[in-house]
Amino acid sequence: MTHHGAGPILVTTAGKVGAEAARTLARQGTPVRVIARDPERATALARAGVDVVAGDLAGRDSIDAAMRDVTAVILVSPAIPAQEIAVIDSAVRAGVAHVVKVTSKASADSPIARRRDQAAIEDRLIASGLAYTLLRNNAYMQNLLMLGPAVSTTGGFGSAAGDGRIGMIDSRDVAAVAAAIVTAPEPHTGRTYWPSGPASLSYADAAAELSRVLGRPVTFRPLTFEQQRQAMVDVGVPEHIAHMNAQAVSLFAEGDSDWTTDDVPTVLGRPARTFRQFAEDHAAAFA
Ligand SMILES: NC(=O)c1ccc[n+]([C@@H]2O[C@H](COP(=O)([O-])OP(=O)(O)OC[C@H]3O[C@@H](n4cnc5c(N)ncnc54)[C@H](OP(=O)(O)O)[C@@H]3O)[C@@H](O)[C@H]2O)c1
Repeated sequence: MTHHGAGPILVTTAGKVGAEAARTLARQGTPVRVIARDPERATALARAGVDVVAGDLAGRDSIDAAMRDVTAVILVSPAIPAQEIAVIDSAVRAGVAHVVKVTSKASADSPIARRRDQAAIEDRLIASGLAYTLLRNNAYMQNLLMLGPAVSTTGGFGSAAGDGRIGMIDSRDVAAVAAAIVTAPEPHTGRTYWPSGPASLSYADAAAELSRVLGRPVTFRPLTFEQQRQAMVDVGVPEHIAHMNAQAVSLFAEGDSDWTTDDVPTVLGRPARTFRQFAEDHAAAFA
């Protein structure tokens, strides 16, 4: 069954994945609504035909208002359990048909708080009785965009990833997978996918690709955990998020994210974007 256009798809936030998924749905004529804390910063989405509603996942009333008439949800946000669970509970009350949950390597006993939180949210979604699909994505290529200023000013970037390889995925493909599933959810009901890019590469490999695309050397400098954490704080990442991100990067060094799957081509019927494509499309951010 495909989406019959009775009511809109709700995309919970307008971040990297949410905004791209909403644009994709609007482009194909599917009614789509996003919640934005500041709709003034989402005018481009509104122009693209997305129904942008003011709201905050911290407030149950604005979630219920945004849920009105919704047929299916793409649940993507910073994954604060109380907030995402409030969305799940609201979806149950509204009789929503399907929830696509964007998640990561969720685990109740992970050393990383965010992964424990994701496990708690997944458990709640599964227990809710709603039809669901989990997208346990590998790390996003777009995480490297925060290194753009370092690449342009110092000719390289540092990371605590060591020589660990990562099956990193372009977040536009995560959005494409979420949009494809939410409009025709039936074959994906109750399934967990592990979307990844087409190849597993180290940060030194990524630096070499950036060198080729930019036509000048880009060097990779190994960092300690503490240097990694501080580097994120220095570019404005809040302390507790910088800590979790530095933990995840340090696990890269141990091979924690050295995996790829065929889930993107299986769902989309086309290959996942390569790191080369990502680098070409975002060259300006590193120039
Ligand atoms: N990055 C990775 O490598 C990676 C890999 C796998 C899975 N994930 C998962 O992806 C999710 C994060 O998604 P993303 O990378 O697309 O995030 P993102 O680009 O950081 O976007 C987060 C969005 O959430 C909005 N937001 C935050 N708090 C909100 C609230 N209380 N009410 C309404 N909107 C709120 C932000 O809006 P404002 O502009 O108002 O702040 C922003 O638009 C997490 O669940 C993470 O575990 C990430």
